[in-house]
Amino acid sequence: MKKYPLTEKYDQNWIEKNWMGPNPLWLLEELCEHMDLKPGMKVLDMGCGKGITSVFLAKEFGVMVFANDLWVSATDNLKRFEEADISDKVFPFHAEAHALPYAEGFFDVAIAIDSYEYYGADEMYFPCTYSKLVKPGGQFGIVVPGLAKEYPKGYPDTLAHLWQGEMFSFHSKDWWRRLWEKTGIVDITACYDMKSPKEIWMPWAEWSVDNFAKEWGEEGDFDMEFLGADTNNDIALVVMAAVKRDANGGLNLKH
Ligand SMILES: C[S@@+](CC[C@H](N)C(=O)[O-])C[C@H]1O[C@@H](n2cnc3c(N)ncnc32)[C@H](O)[C@@H]1O
Repeated sequence: MKKYPLTEKYDQNWIEKNWMGPNPLWLLEELCEHMDLKPGMKVLDMGCGKGITSVFLAKEFGVMVFANDLWVSATDNLKRFEEADISDKVFPFHAEAHALPYAEGFFDVAIAIDSYEYYGADEMYFPCTYSKLVKPGGQFGIVVPGLAKEYPKGYPDTLAHLWQGEMFSFHSKDWWRRLWEKTGIVDITACYDMKSPKEIWMPWAEWSVDNFAKEWGEEGDFDMEFLGADTNNDIALVVMAAVKRDANGGLNLKH
């Protein structure tokens, strides 16, 4: 599997204590290869979970991070940012994706690691809400779990017995590209499947078997079963980055 040298600087126990899916720092480090992050930039970390991606962004790139999450409270995240000695650069927020408290055009960059699929697979979310948060010339980046290709039913037969409602937001890279590209608001600068997605996903699946119930109160063997059932290699981790066009680009969207 590919190496992620920036992530290697971080304590594995700290990562495992705070991750909420396949190693978010690996996914972020991959995405950052396609982002141009400069000190002082204002970055929205959407669906930051317990905020380890926010800490990474501030420490590695010197950016100012607005760490936004729904399931994890801002107070809990503040404690983590203080413990990581980065609370002067990372600010915790608790807000739902459709009720964000930020001004339009406030951010230089908006990223979302293993989160955008929960709210952003809706056709309207990008043109009507998310794209407005970032200034012209600003950048977007997501990494989402998905599928290597689209299926008429929405899922491959191999995974049918495990498919759950929220997984209908798992799509191919081409599907994600079209979702944003057709709005005319952005130019896509990267869109591809990460190499070895199941190897990347596996440490989280293994951790979940032993620890998920303690942390989240539910059985944690689902991911292991899901990866094991994927005999056709349909599971993907899609990376997509984009730059917002200037004010004259895109459709004349009034709302
Ligand atoms: C699978 S977790 C990933 C968290 C973190 N990025 C990580 O990888 O550890 C998905 C995150 O998306 C956030 N999320 C889901 N739906 C959301 C919504 N409607 N508005 C804001 N955040 C949302 C959740 O709060 C959750 O922390």
